[in-house]
This record gives sequence, structure tokens and C-alpha cells, in this order.
Amino acid sequence: MEYTELLAGRRSTRHFDTSREVPDELLERVLAAPLAMPHAGNTYDWRGVVLRRRDRDPDRWPAVFSALLEQSYVEEADVLIVYAVQPGWWAEQYRANVATLVERGLIDPARHKILLETVGDGIGDPKALTTGLVGEAMMGVTAGMLAAIDAGLGATVTGCRPGDLARALELPDGVVLCPYGILALGWPAVAGDGAAPVGAPKPPVGTMYFSDRWGGPSPVGRS
Ligand SMILES: Cc1cc2nc3c(=O)[nH]c(=O)nc-3n(C[C@H](O)[C@H](O)[C@H](O)COP(=O)(O)O)c2cc1C
Repeated sequence: MEYTELLAGRRSTRHFDTSREVPDELLERVLAAPLAMPHAGNTYDWRGVVLRRRDRDPDRWPAVFSALLEQSYVEEADVLIVYAVQPGWWAEQYRANVATLVERGLIDPARHKILLETVGDGIGDPKALTTGLVGEAMMGVTAGMLAAIDAGLGATVTGCRPGDLARALELPDGVVLCPYGILALGWPAVAGDGAAPVGAPKPPVGTMYFSDRWGGPSPVGRS
């Protein structure tokens, strides 16, 4: 699908066809899409836990479903992908990874002097680091979502109770669940079969941006 058309038509799917599975090769395309996105400090620290409807563990699923807020489309989704990040592990890799970027000529010490000095200062604010890595993972969620929709699937980003979900999926200490880094996927239910209505209209783009400072005039539609 052409990218502009893909974006214009993207809406969240809240009713999936439970009679159709997502073929493995299609799922693998969705799983590969996040790797196309940028990654901080030359490493991918995010990992995903893939839950397939057909493989639901009757002992584990009730806790997972409860942590996913018991939303009906989550129950119907053929695939759920839960993303988490590893800030401690990322920090361990950081210096070595930047050194690799320098070796490859992607960072030029002459032109990125201040960036390289900050590497020597350590990782900085751990909270900001975690936020940044969650943001990185969310870019991956976006890429996976668009790959899924491009292939005709429906997809919805989903919230949860992160602590409960982390426990249900046995995340180890130091691994941080992305609170909204959950992608529910499946074939959309066909219209007339109870398919949920699409969401609210989008705001005009001009209302979303300021020029120069918060509250400045919109940069859109000035010409
Ligand atoms: C961070 C985030 C969390 C979301 N969590 C949920 C959710 O738990 N349940 C849900 O039905 N939709 C959820 N959504 C989808 C939004 O409700 C949806 O994107 C919004 O209503 C706009 O509709 P659209 O996606 O069809 O354009 C979430 C979206 C984002 C970005």
C-alpha cells in the first residue's frame, strides 16, 4: 500500500475475526518491522513477548488478560506482542557501542566532540534513559502496526497494568515493560459482523504545532 494511503486509512481495530489466524510468515514480517527503526547508542535493547491465541496457557492467560484490562478485542486478537526494555543492559553496552559507531565512521570525533564527552559522563538520568528507551520501543510498535495494516491486518495499541503484566509474563528485575507497548493484531471482523465503529475525526494538523515557542502561530498553512 502507498504510505500516504496507509496513514490516511489507519484506525484502531476493536473487533477481530476469531476464526482466522495470522499466518506465521505474515507475523514474521510484523516482528521484523521494528528493526527498521532507529536505536539509541547503536543497540536494540527492547525485546517482545509474543502471545498467540492458539497457544494461550489456561493457567497464565487469566492473569495476562486481567493485566490487559480485560478488553474484548484483546481476548479476540490472534496475536499480542508485549514490548519491554532493559535500561541496565543498555547502559552496559553504551560505551562500546559508541566506540563501534566511531570505528565505522558514523560518528566523527571532530564533529561530535560534545556527544562523545557526554559518553564519558555516564548515562545521566536513569529515568530519562528509561523514557527514551520506551520511546524507542514505541517507534518499533508503530512500525509493526503499519506493517500489519499494510498486509490487511487490524492492529491496536493497548494499555495495561504494567506491574501485573510484568509478573504474569515473568519479566526479570531490570526489565521494564512499556506501559502502552502492546500491539493487538488479527484479521478485522467484517462490517456487519459487529465490527466496531472507527474512532473520532482527526484534528486539523495546523492545531498541533507552534512556531518558535509554545503558543506561537501555527507553521501550517502560512503560504
Ligand atoms: C498509548 C496508547 C494507548 C492506547 N490504549 C488503548 C486501550 O487500552 N484500549 C483501546 O481500545 N484503545 C487504546 N488505544 C487506541 C486509541 O484509543 C486510539 O488510537 C484513538 O482513539 C484514536 O483512534 P484511531 O487509532 O482509530 O485513530 C491506545 C492508543 C495509544 C497511542
